[in-house]
Formats: sequence, structure tokens, C-alpha cells
Amino acid sequence: MIYYVTPTYPRPEQVPELTRLAHTLMHVPRIHWIIADDQPLCSDVVLNILRRTNLPFTHISSPKPFLYKGTNFPRGVSNRRAAVAWLQENVSDGILYFGDDDNTVDLELFDEIRNTKKVSMFPVGLIGGYGVSSPVVKNGKVAGFFDSWPGSRTFPVDMAGFAVNMKFLKPSASMPYIAGHEEDKFLVSLDLKMEDIEPLADNCTKILVWHTKTAKYKKPTVKINLKQFDGEPKFQNFVNLLKETSRLGMASIESNNGTKPYIIRDRKSYETLTGLQ
Ligand SMILES: *[C@@H]1O[C@H](CO)[C@@H](O)[C@H](O)[C@H]1NC(C)=O
Repeated sequence: MIYYVTPTYPRPEQVPELTRLAHTLMHVPRIHWIIADDQPLCSDVVLNILRRTNLPFTHISSPKPFLYKGTNFPRGVSNRRAAVAWLQENVSDGILYFGDDDNTVDLELFDEIRNTKKVSMFPVGLIGGYGVSSPVVKNGKVAGFFDSWPGSRTFPVDMAGFAVNMKFLKPSASMPYIAGHEEDKFLVSLDLKMEDIEPLADNCTKILVWHTKTAKYKKPTVKINLKQFDGEPKFQNFVNLLKETSRLGMASIESNNGTKPYIIRDRKSYETLTGLQ
């Protein structure tokens, strides 16, 4: 079984990113999706996506600790910690992989990581200043790392660039709240040695995962008083579309604030209600 750990938080891109990832994971046999949700209560929007996959899943509420509110605190740490704690309590066999919701994954990656004995590593595309972050492999063993940010790290790798066998997930496993050092300190906490690392993807020559990163979309506020549509059944489809857009976090709909919207008909723009008459 592969335990695919995905931290997530609400933003306009959340639903499309998780939908894309869900539709990749649905092609993978023996996978258990752990979504660590950044909300104090697990979000219904996320739960709906999980349910529709028909995959075994665990949905964990793992908001950032109060202590770190408003600080430049690395996203995803409390989430991955919660997922690791859940795995340590409930699972003894299988493979742990940290796959964010803004990654693109080739299905071949799953065949590769499934045979991880301790810790396997492989290249990740679209990282930093070299276009890739990867172990450098010599005679079938990891001899060094190619990553544009050394950051005095023992294991300068991306979160998506390694997989861990649960047998190797020691009780000492921990991930610090230090931006840029989460991967390295986690691997060091496992007491990983260079000679333990299993290079995958044809001795780290192929790229099977990318840190795609969807362009950030600034959530707009649209000024519409939904009450004006009350008792107007002919506008219900439109009202429901607006409610769905708001529910999925892609826009705020407010009655007295935001961009004034128009309806277009015959190449003319009309204020919402009159455009629909
Ligand atoms: C990786 O390199 C080693 C040593 O050169 C070789 O024996 C092995 O077959 C290679 N593995 C793959 C999958 O290409």
C-alpha cells in the first residue's frame, strides 16, 4: 500500500488542484490517500472530492498551531506531522510519500516507489534555479545532490523527491517548522545514511514528478445582492451557479462590496437583473 500524504488549504486553486490529483490517484492500485486539511474542521469541499474517488482515504484536521499564526511559518508542516503521527499509530507496512496538491505525477512513479526498502529518491522537475532537483547517481549509488539551494542541508531534496518504507519510519521521525529545511531535517531524523538511499527513475535519469505550481489567482469579490433574486424562480440556475462559485472558494459574493458585474447579451452589457429579463 502507498500512503499518499497531501497537505491542503483553502484557496481558489484548491478544488481544481485536488480534482486533478484525485483523477491521477484513481488510476493507482493499492493507494490510501491521506489529506491533511489546514482547517479546524475538515472541509466539506475536500471531503466531497475524497468520497468521489472511491479510494480508501483519511481526512485529518491539522491547522497550524496558534503559536505560529501570522508568522512566516512554513505551510504543510503541521499537516504532514499529523499524517505521520496517524501512520505511526495505525500502519506498520507500506510506503509513505509526500505528494502536494500542486504536483504533477506520472503513473510510473507509483510502480517505482512501491519497492522502496528504506528511503528511495528520484528527480523532481520545475524546482529552483536548475529546473530540476535530484540526487546525482554514480555506479548505481547516490554520490551527491543537484539542487540550486544548498542551504547547508545533508539531503538537499524536494518534498516530492523521496519515498519512505513504513518500517524505516522510526519513532524519532519529526519535521521542523523551519522553511526550506523540512525535508532535510525529516530525513536526518530517520537516521538516514547516504548508502541507504535507493535511487529510482533509471538511476535518476527520468523525471516522473513535477512541482507544477498553478499561477496564483486572486480571489475576486463580486457585488451581487442575492436577495434580489428571492422569489424569482427563473433566475435560480444563475443564483445556484453563484452560490457554487462561492462555496468552492473561487469568488466572494457580497451585497454591498466588490466588482459590479454585468450580463452580456447581443454584445451589449447589462446590469445583472436587467440582462436576464
Ligand atoms: C543503475 O546503475 C547500476 C550501476 O551502473 C546498474 O547496475 C543498474 O542496472 C542501473 N539501473 C537501472 C534501472 O538502469
